[in-house]
Amino acid sequence: MITYDIATKSDLNQLSELEKDVFEKHVAFSKKDWHKLLQNKRVMIHVVRDKEKIIADIVIVKFKLLRWIYSLAVAKAYQRKGHARRFLTQLLFFRKKCIFVLEVASDNIPAIKLYRSVGFETIALLKDYYGPKQDAYRMMKK
Ligand SMILES: CC(C)(COP(=O)(O)OP(=O)(O)OC[C@H]1O[C@@H](n2cnc3c(N)ncnc32)[C@H](O)[C@@H]1OP(=O)(O)O)[C@@H](O)C(=O)NCCC(=O)NCCS
Repeated sequence: MITYDIATKSDLNQLSELEKDVFEKHVAFSKKDWHKLLQNKRVMIHVVRDKEKIIADIVIVKFKLLRWIYSLAVAKAYQRKGHARRFLTQLLFFRKKCIFVLEVASDNIPAIKLYRSVGFETIALLKDYYGPKQDAYRMMKK
């Protein structure tokens, strides 16, 4: 059974494991990073669970009506099954007054297609954002 909720400190290990599954080591949040994120009052960590297991997370930083999508990950075994689209669609639906922004690597085609499919538009090209020749797009959804 798939459920949606907010992560708590007891999810630290699972969030860390999911991160290792999805991201390369040099970009993945460490356990210490997750610990800090879980303590930060401006940060909401939304998760999708399959029974008890966390299969996806979205890290959102709040500032007034602005919501910055800081990270999004779906476990490899659960990718390409519509989880990210349903997850995002639900988040956006319940926060219609908010403005969402995010940055995505310009070569991350799966993520760019996903964000476009739920209504995000590219508002800027950020040259060398992730390092030399590693550009990003800033995308926004009002
Ligand atoms: C990007 C990511 C979150 C997508 O999650 P997902 O649950 O697999 O995505 P969905 O199944 O909901 O797919 C929604 C749409 O995204 C696009 N998409 C997703 N994966 C894709 C892929 N591998 N190749 C091309 N398009 C893809 C498609 O347009 C898809 O719609 P379609 O299936 O109708 O064609 C997932 O691949 C992931 O965790 N990637 C690694 C981490 C990452 O890049 N995060 C984003 C950082 S900004």
